[in-house]
Amino acid sequence: RRRVAVLISGRGSNMAALLEAAAAPGFPAEVALVLSNRADAAGLAHAAARGVATAVVESRPHGRDRAAHERAVQSVLEAHGIELVCLAGYMRILTPWLVGRWAGRMLNIHPSLLPAFPGLDTHQRAIAAGCTLHGCTVHLVTEEMDAGPILAQAAVPVLPGDDPDTLAARVLAQEHRLYPLALRRVAAGAGWAADPGAAPGAAPESDLWAD
Ligand code: GAR
Repeated sequence: RRRVAVLISGRGSNMAALLEAAAAPGFPAEVALVLSNRADAAGLAHAAARGVATAVVESRPHGRDRAAHERAVQSVLEAHGIELVCLAGYMRILTPWLVGRWAGRMLNIHPSLLPAFPGLDTHQRAIAAGCTLHGCTVHLVTEEMDAGPILAQAAVPVLPGDDPDTLAARVLAQEHRLYPLALRRVAAGAGWAADPGAAPGAAPESDLWAD
């Protein structure tokens, strides 16, 4: 089973979904570490209560020195023998240095149907744009933010009267389903290529009206 680190900054509900999925017999990955850049991330207690190793690598002591923070993150990942990284609400922009070390082995979940709405406030922006479909994307992390190869997507309707919170909740339910599915695929692959299309059986997963 591939040793996975899940990187969080807060609530950690996607991390919890990955933990639950990975506990099932036959799942090709185990969550070996939950790492947060914030000591107050609620998800840390959830992981610890389930017997998963946790680590906090705060960015503040490193000030503006992103490289120093990332070197600290990388050394914790190496110390835990991590093979795959899942970003799950990890609210830091990564430098090419760290991304390069994990090319093809670092996944992210983003709350929009990429390439629409990279960045923040995705639900509000989808409503403001008049979208009737919205959703979430799991992709490989590359140097450009929210722009790596898409591994899986799930769509939900935008309903009349939605506000960002109601829409976020509908999307989040799909995130919790989609991320384990994408991780399963990547972890089960014989190897993982930067181009998911290069891996046998790795056609992008997608769902419309997933419920
Ligand atoms: C999730 O909705 C995730 O897609 C989003 O943050 C939330 C984290 O929730 N990620 C991003 O916006 C990344 N730019 P969680 O901590 O409960 O998993």
